[in-house]
Amino acid sequence: MENFITLGQYEAAFPSKVKPEVYAYVTGGSASELSLRRNRAALERIAIEQRVGMDVRAIDLTTTFLGLELPAPFAVCPMGGMPQVWPRGDVEMARGATVGGLLGVANSGGPIQERMEVASGPLMYQLYNYGDRDWAAARLEEIQAAGYQAITLTVDTGVQSRRDVHLEALYTAGGGQLPPPRPVQPGSDPMYLSMITWEYVRFLRELIKVPFGLKGIMHPDDALASLECGLDFIWISNHGGRQLDSGRATIDALPRVAAAIGQRAPIIVDGGFRHGADIVKGLALGATIVAIGRPYMWGLAHGGAEGAAAISRLLEAELRVDMALACQTSVRGITREAVAYVDY
Ligand code: GLV
Repeated sequence: MENFITLGQYEAAFPSKVKPEVYAYVTGGSASELSLRRNRAALERIAIEQRVGMDVRAIDLTTTFLGLELPAPFAVCPMGGMPQVWPRGDVEMARGATVGGLLGVANSGGPIQERMEVASGPLMYQLYNYGDRDWAAARLEEIQAAGYQAITLTVDTGVQSRRDVHLEALYTAGGGQLPPPRPVQPGSDPMYLSMITWEYVRFLRELIKVPFGLKGIMHPDDALASLECGLDFIWISNHGGRQLDSGRATIDALPRVAAAIGQRAPIIVDGGFRHGADIVKGLALGATIVAIGRPYMWGLAHGGAEGAAAISRLLEAELRVDMALACQTSVRGITREAVAYVDY
């Protein structure tokens, strides 16, 4: 693999590495893509405070999350479509994005056991609830037997959004016809995604012995409700701007949720985070882990596991520089004072 030297190079090369409909699937959002754009726009309205007068030779990126000691405060997002981006892309991603002991998150679609075997950092499993209670119990048993260190249930997909950009690309690729819907695994039914209630979350909590959190929390009341169900962490996400359109940016949801829950549970946030500087903003506003999605897809498309590992290295290098120039020498010490809202 020819190594690029910036994240921008991986992004620029991405369209030439995948089919147009895969490009649309990965990069697109739902409907008018307002949520997608807001994720980025809101991050761009936040400035990092430049500070001076400190010895910044040593920058400590380590953090603790759910009892796991991690080398850096970021992780790959669970994503669909990885096998369309690179052969066995979901396994390659688990292998590459965790190099150095980074936290990885394995998406619902890929093999359960194999990804645990190839990962070199802790892995969280991202579950879609595609079945009834017996289905969920069997699935959760399999995930926990494989040794996943945490589980997250995605809850922002009560119905499938209308992804106009993706539908249009598929329509074009299909010569003016939409291809048949993807086959659903035997015994699974997306109808169950529409039936997740707090009572159901409590039922899952009983079955899950490892740390458990919901992915797709945007409102403080939902964060509080999930803590009342005994959950261990909050994952703030709007599905990368791919589900509810016209929603808030995740970086704007973050301080509201953090204020509501205080120190009771750690927070993961994703949605539009692209660079080391974005990670600093997420940490300053209350997240312990910033999850990164599309940039890892750019890396995967370029070189499979090696490409994903290269993205981790670039994010880490950027984060070190941004922290040093802000006189933030430790991830654990970054607070709200590290950033400011600006209107330009
Ligand atoms: C899957 O979760 C997707 O957003 O396509």
